Amino acid sequence: MPAEAPVLSERRGAVGVAYLNRPDARNALSADLMDVLADLVESWDADDDVRCIVIAGGETYFAAGGDIKGMAEQDFQAVVAAPTASFWRRVADCATPMVAAVSGYALGGGCELALLCDMVVASETAEFGQPEILLGIIPGGGGTQRLTRVMGKQRAMELVLTGRRIDAEEAHALGLVNKVVRKREWLDRAIELATVVAHRPPLAARMAKRAVLAADEVGLGAGLDIERRLFELAMATEDRVEGMSAFVEKRKPDFRAR
Ligand code: HXC
Repeated sequence: MPAEAPVLSERRGAVGVAYLNRPDARNALSADLMDVLADLVESWDADDDVRCIVIAGGETYFAAGGDIKGMAEQDFQAVVAAPTASFWRRVADCATPMVAAVSGYALGGGCELALLCDMVVASETAEFGQPEILLGIIPGGGGTQRLTRVMGKQRAMELVLTGRRIDAEEAHALGLVNKVVRKREWLDRAIELATVVAHRPPLAARMAKRAVLAADEVGLGAGLDIERRLFELAMATEDRVEGMSAFVEKRKPDFRAR
């Protein structure tokens, strides 16, 4: 990809790393960026060699949100018809586990993109927030729903109604962030976490992701049914036979994604 592409990418073994790359606009999520990122995530999701995905920003900015300059010109019809509306669904449909690597600002759509990932590694410099209210709008990329599921109604309500930004420690205390790491270590630590997941048997990893996400979608009874079906499916895989045989034989398992 050319250096000026809105998203850069590299492979680190079985981990695909996507870098948001609009530094002049603080990585604001333009239509172009969202399109390229969704295409990339979908192509990795279809690639058996990619076992975990990291979505990263830059050192000072993960993403400053939706592209306000682009949105400022949109009338109602344009918003309704915007192809970018499907971005959130396309990325959410990714079955491969995803880790957000956040340093600096993750605001508005940037915070929502981190929330969309399955885990978040944050630099001690990270700041999260949903400042849409200050622009006269509300979050439109899942923030009101995912923030509420992560931290509870009262806390999410405060952030969405005031637009207050929170630092990495508070985000960690509220459950939005898995771990806070020293600055300059955020990317390495995120890739490290992704690499651990990438070494897990991939079919089981995808089933585990689906089962955990089901907890946000359905009631307890239905969620337990989904988990049981996925557990039964996992028991039908060759990797399960290998994993259990390896344990019994006291050797390392050789998972084949089968
Ligand atoms: C477009 C943006 C932008 C954004 C910054 N820029 N954020 N452009 N969309 N979200 C541009 C600025 O206009 C400026 O361009 C350049 O990036 C540098 O910005 P500064 O403000 O000068 O940088 P700084 O002082 O470092 O402050 C960084 C910041 C601030 C704290 C992140 O830029 C900021 O508050 N941005 C807006 C955050 C926000 O409100 N996000 C929510 C967006 S709405 P020029 O041309 O002047 O150099 C949203 C809804 C999503 O996310 C709904 C789903 C799609």
